Amino acid sequence: KRRIGVMTSGGDAPGMNGAVRAVVRMTIASGCEAYCIYEGYQGLVDGGDMIKQVEWDDVRGYLAEGGTLIGTARCADFRKREGRLKAARNMIDKGIDALIICGGDGSLTGADTFRKEWPALLKELVANGQVTPEQIEPFKHLNIVGLVGSIDNDMSSTDATIGCYSSLTRICESVDSIDATARSHQRAFVIEVMGRHCGWLALMAGVSTGADFIMIPENPPTENWKEEMCKIIGKHRKLGKRKTIVIVAEGAHDINLKKITSNEVKDLLSEYGLDTRVTTLGHVQRGGAAVAYDRMLSTLQGAEAVKAVLEATPDTASPVISIVENKIVRKPLLEAVRLTHEVAEAIEAKDFARAMKLRDAEFAE
Ligand code: F6P
Repeated sequence: KRRIGVMTSGGDAPGMNGAVRAVVRMTIASGCEAYCIYEGYQGLVDGGDMIKQVEWDDVRGYLAEGGTLIGTARCADFRKREGRLKAARNMIDKGIDALIICGGDGSLTGADTFRKEWPALLKELVANGQVTPEQIEPFKHLNIVGLVGSIDNDMSSTDATIGCYSSLTRICESVDSIDATARSHQRAFVIEVMGRHCGWLALMAGVSTGADFIMIPENPPTENWKEEMCKIIGKHRKLGKRKTIVIVAEGAHDINLKKITSNEVKDLLSEYGLDTRVTTLGHVQRGGAAVAYDRMLSTLQGAEAVKAVLEATPDTASPVISIVENKIVRKPLLEAVRLTHEVAEAIEAKDFARAMKLRDAEFAE
């Protein structure tokens, strides 16, 4: 029976458990054996009990749970060849030749490096006498399939990453709570949200809560943003608004790439005459149950990932499972990573129009 491994890697995201559940159950339903790799790549490097066969019932109750129940880690060992050699040895020992990884672009790139190196790693294991040529015979090719799990929604080639809608929902609920107290005191709030270098969470939270001003890295405010922001906020106040909400992405900067901090915005609004507070939402944005969309997305994508493993040929490039215009599709993993890096490059080159265009459709419109 074919053995398929599943792991979660990088920052956790709601829906990762749904993905693990779907991969495990689809694997078993396809007549294969499912293995969970615990604590991300660290589990692959450490082997032993960190790689365990799992049955249908072992993933009961996973669908709604936040975080990742099989653990995750940012693993330094796997970045070194020595670590990857250990990982290859552990996989041969367990008889696993296919990995489905749910993580961000860094985790998925690492997986593809492992796939490319695989034949050389096997050769080295044989040369070191750690495995016999007969042992590696059935494991000539390593199959890698990526599932994008991240609250940031920062991966190109997919409309949504697993976890981003749960996080967005949590942010909106938090902003709604802040609205109530802000209105009561006629205060202004600067709310900082996560997203690393991506402004999707900030932008969509701003749209969904009717924020007065939003700051995202892909479309920084103009040179005179301070006056512009105060003018807009003043106009809204004159229209009768009792509260002011400014949403700042954690990666926000001005057009010269100078970081814009929430405290800087707060000081400005205070000087303008508004009683202002800062709320940094932090990791509450990442925890909590998965919303319906993430349960659905992770389940459909997890099932598709197993299909992709079973249909792969030795020449198939590693795919990433995406959702594009509401359809679950396979895209070339490396191309998705390349396009994702292009956004960062465009921002670095201060070509913000290009950065916006490279982001998903909702940014470009
Ligand atoms: O990538 C997910 C994310 O939550 C980002 O939004 C944030 O910048 C980062 O991870 C925080 O990482 P950590 O949990 O390691 O502080």
